[in-house]
Amino acid sequence: MEADAISPTLVPAPAPAAAEPLTEGALILPLDIMQRLDLAAIFGNTRPVELELGAGDGSFLINYTTLHPEHNFLGVERLLGRLRKIDRKGRRAALTNLRGLRVEAAYLLEWMIPPGSLATIHIYFPDPWPKRRHWKNRLINERFTQLAHTALQPGGTVFLRTDETTYFAQMERVFDANSDFERVPAPEELRAVKTDFERNFNAKGIPTNHAAYRRRG
Ligand SMILES: C[S@@+](CC[C@H](N)C(=O)[O-])C[C@H]1O[C@@H](n2cnc3c(N)ncnc32)[C@H](O)[C@@H]1O
Repeated sequence: MEADAISPTLVPAPAPAAAEPLTEGALILPLDIMQRLDLAAIFGNTRPVELELGAGDGSFLINYTTLHPEHNFLGVERLLGRLRKIDRKGRRAALTNLRGLRVEAAYLLEWMIPPGSLATIHIYFPDPWPKRRHWKNRLINERFTQLAHTALQPGGTVFLRTDETTYFAQMERVFDANSDFERVPAPEELRAVKTDFERNFNAKGIPTNHAAYRRRG
């Protein structure tokens, strides 16, 4: 597939000044699966871009984006209802550095993210697929580490969290086996911002397993 050209159709109209209320859906990007995203045009600047895959209702994304106006944030979710919640919360918080996109996460990394363009990838509580016969459906696998390596800038980092211990073991195994990544600590400031699923699990006494891997070069 040819996916290198940058499409003017993926450049949304400039966001109105913060004082003006944004219309419903203003933060949701139009989808063109045949083109790579023009991140500078989408955000109107060249600040570092952080991506959250499977952002759910945006509980982490909205809070973390608010804390970091110096970065741009792209939230990806395949469920439209959840993406609309992200749009609604983001507009209410008048976030100009946030956009959402409805697309499948691995497809996005392979075909739509410009290679070497991301500062950070956040993946929190991805669908766990706990039954062994379903493990093949898990997002984080050996191939995923290669896609993440291509999408990240040198020094860019993948942050992972899950409650599911067999999935966490799989995450550690595939990233530890990829010599293009090194394991690094996750900043406390980041870990303190919980996701919706995480709060629910932690409230039931189920702890968060977390790991971070930095692209070496
Ligand atoms: C278990 S929920 C966790 C949501 C959020 N990260 C949290 O921790 O609260 C997983 C989310 O990922 C989304 N999702 C699962 N697989 C996906 C994929 N391949 N591409 C995009 N979104 C996906 C689901 O729709 C769901 O909202």
